[in-house]
Amino acid sequence: MKVLVIGNGGREHALCWHLAEHSSAVEVFCAPGSDAIAEHAQPVPIKVDDVQSLADFATDLHIDLTIVGPELPLSLGIVDEFRSRELTIFGPSRDAAQLESSKVFAKEFMLRHDIPTAGFDVAHDINDLENILERFSFPVALKADGLAAGKGVILCADRADALEAGKTFFEERRFGTSGDRVVVEEFLQGEEVSFIALCDGKRLLPMATSKDYKRIRDDDQGPNTGGMGAHSPSGIVEPDAAREVFERVLMPTVEGMKAEGCPFVGFLYAGLMMTAAGPKVLEFNTRLGDPEAQPLLMRLENDLASLLSAGAKGDFGVDRLTFRREVAACVVLAAEGYPGSATTGVPIEGLDEARSGDGVEIFHAGTRRNAESSEFEVAGGRVLSVCATGASLRDALRSAYQAADRIRWPGRQMRTDIGRRVIEQDHEAHSGVINLPRDLGQGTP
Ligand code: AMP
Ligand code: GLY
Repeated sequence: MKVLVIGNGGREHALCWHLAEHSSAVEVFCAPGSDAIAEHAQPVPIKVDDVQSLADFATDLHIDLTIVGPELPLSLGIVDEFRSRELTIFGPSRDAAQLESSKVFAKEFMLRHDIPTAGFDVAHDINDLENILERFSFPVALKADGLAAGKGVILCADRADALEAGKTFFEERRFGTSGDRVVVEEFLQGEEVSFIALCDGKRLLPMATSKDYKRIRDDDQGPNTGGMGAHSPSGIVEPDAAREVFERVLMPTVEGMKAEGCPFVGFLYAGLMMTAAGPKVLEFNTRLGDPEAQPLLMRLENDLASLLSAGAKGDFGVDRLTFRREVAACVVLAAEGYPGSATTGVPIEGLDEARSGDGVEIFHAGTRRNAESSEFEVAGGRVLSVCATGASLRDALRSAYQAADRIRWPGRQMRTDIGRRVIEQDHEAHSGVINLPRDLGQGTP
């Protein structure tokens, strides 16, 4: 079976690794891939937004299954294009991908289907924003409607802050047309968790729970990033709460999309705040999270190629996913300057030594081989996901940090507190594997 993975980050490296390790008789390609991903998959030099060329390649090579990593090609309609050529692809159509590519669409959808989320309004210009703010208490969250690489949310302490933030959307136009409409949202308090499920249009297969750490510095300080670390299980969600999330958020989303004539196929990711009033949706993603995918894939035992191929054709054919009991943790090493402009071209030391640790896997995101020395060097903002499994979160993190400490370059950034609060609260016993009752997650046929 020939499988094409679209993307070149840590998530896609982990996908290619999983396919190579756990799927039988697969030949893996990755577009564009990277020097590191080349260990598991043949690189294909086509950019993720060049949908036509990707479809031409898949047609010419008789690719049996395509798996889409990032959101951009989904929002450009890669799935519609592949399906029109009768190519099997696992991911949502352009319309279904609006759950991520338009925050206004997602909020209005949740309102229509009574899915719990923060109260909100939509501002179309600065005057609109001024009026809307009269009805909100502070802090508030302002969110660009469109894709903004994880940087389109501004948390505002007071009215002056919010009006200042409004200018970056409407006057400076920092997010381009993505900021033409701005969601003004009630501020939520609680622990953030990620729920990811696989969906074949009608049924959900829940992945184990996971948690990512978005801020650049320890204790959730500094600006938001794509994610600086993750672990699975999340350690903070009890099985009952997990079931509540499926009953109140994920199933109604799948049912709602189907009822609106836009069935959702792909990875459905709900970013939630577990508030005192129950779980509330912060955002949907229509793909695997990065870095959550890395620890999740280290635990997943299913054969992804046959599973996703069946799902893309409308029926997974299995009732549940299986995860190793072990905990998996991931520590992201980022370049100097990230999440602003990253300092690249710096040699990375200690990779081989770090890889030799017990249960350690290193997934590359922003790296390339130096043309002369052929050693790896920094080539992007988030550089490496250093992952490890262990019997407990404490063990997994110890191994991941031991490996991470061996990897050095000038200006390297790393959070030192991934998972610390979860361990301190001693919440780590539950495996995070969500076994839904038989009647839930099955959807209507
Ligand atoms: P989003 O891209 O919508 O998930 O937002 C990025 C991050 O901003 C989230 O992971 C939260 O940490 C924070 N955030 C977003 N919306 C809210 C909200 N309504 N209340 C509090 N924090 C929020
Ligand atoms: N880690 C969050 C994301 O992938 O959007």
